[in-house]
Amino acid sequence: MKCVKVPLKQINDTRLKLMADGQMNMDYRIKTSDGFGYIPVNSEIEGHEIVDIELEPMKKVAHNFSELLEGELSHEEIENLKTSFDTIGNIVILEIPDNLYDKRQMIGEAALKFTGKQAIYMKKSAIKGTIRIRDLEFLAGTDDSVTIHKEHGVRLKLDVREVYFSPRLATERIRISNSVSDGERILDMFCGIGPFPILIAKNHNVDIAAVDINEAAIKYLNENIELNKLKGNVKSYCGDIRDVSESFNCKFDRILMNLPGLAYTFLDVAVNLIEEGGIINYYEFSDSYEQGINRLRHAAAQIGKDVEIINTRKVKSTAPGEWHVAIDGKVISK
Ligand SMILES: C[S@@+](CC[C@H](N)C(=O)[O-])C[C@H]1O[C@@H](n2cnc3c(N)ncnc32)[C@H](O)[C@@H]1O
Repeated sequence: MKCVKVPLKQINDTRLKLMADGQMNMDYRIKTSDGFGYIPVNSEIEGHEIVDIELEPMKKVAHNFSELLEGELSHEEIENLKTSFDTIGNIVILEIPDNLYDKRQMIGEAALKFTGKQAIYMKKSAIKGTIRIRDLEFLAGTDDSVTIHKEHGVRLKLDVREVYFSPRLATERIRISNSVSDGERILDMFCGIGPFPILIAKNHNVDIAAVDINEAAIKYLNENIELNKLKGNVKSYCGDIRDVSESFNCKFDRILMNLPGLAYTFLDVAVNLIEEGGIINYYEFSDSYEQGINRLRHAAAQIGKDVEIINTRKVKSTAPGEWHVAIDGKVISK
């Protein structure tokens, strides 16, 4: 690559002048080495020393996803696609409607250029089964489904094909972490790769038992414990929470229950493991809070306890009129 060679002191002025004159080659990165700067140019330039060296090409990131698909899709189709982007570390997962399935490759290439990420996948099924994962189809980039996602200062390693993870719960995670106090003993009944426990233990000196039935999730949780500098202690358990819970010989100040489709079927386990005055962070899919509140109260009543509702919120929309709701309940004596 043809470059202007200048002493480092002059690099900025020379770069600005070359850019203003339209002489800089914007497809390559400027290099600095041994006190000199090398600015890529399109042709010989009088008054400058020109050398030929290897330069790294610029990553091309289009500023506008619409620009890349203009003429191929309608404005509305492009806008809908944009809202479906889920970015997990270096991976983008798209939801492509059935009527655009034939154009998926082109959409994938556009998403790759637009985001500059490593891989683009499309959702091929809903989240399903006990371990809550979905089928994915590779569209563009490099077909490597392992990545490290950064969120609120923690690093979370995962394989998007093997484990559940949603970047859309980031706000909920920090909200829970902010409500934890040092010294709490916490149980995450359905921990996945550990986004809640890792964030909480990064911010607080706590003891967390983290349980998941998916072996791959526990493998990544163990890696994530090592990847992050934690103030607290996280101990992982692989298995069905009903079985694992039998080995616990303590109660917990807080229990997290983020398995929104089925958490209610484990409320009997939770109320038996919660300390007097402890908090259950309970989640479910619902069109209201009443159902969840009633389920919590009913489970507590079975062991002669009551529930004081501390907070309720909509975490995210799941379907028209339906939400992933959160209910924080303090379990107390009647
Ligand atoms: C919706 S995911 C949530 C994971 C994690 N809490 C998060 O927010 O990313 C639910 C998790 O529960 C696990 N799971 C399902 N049934 C379980 C059971 N009976 N015992 C323990 N874990 C279970 C699944 O493998 C899955 O990782």
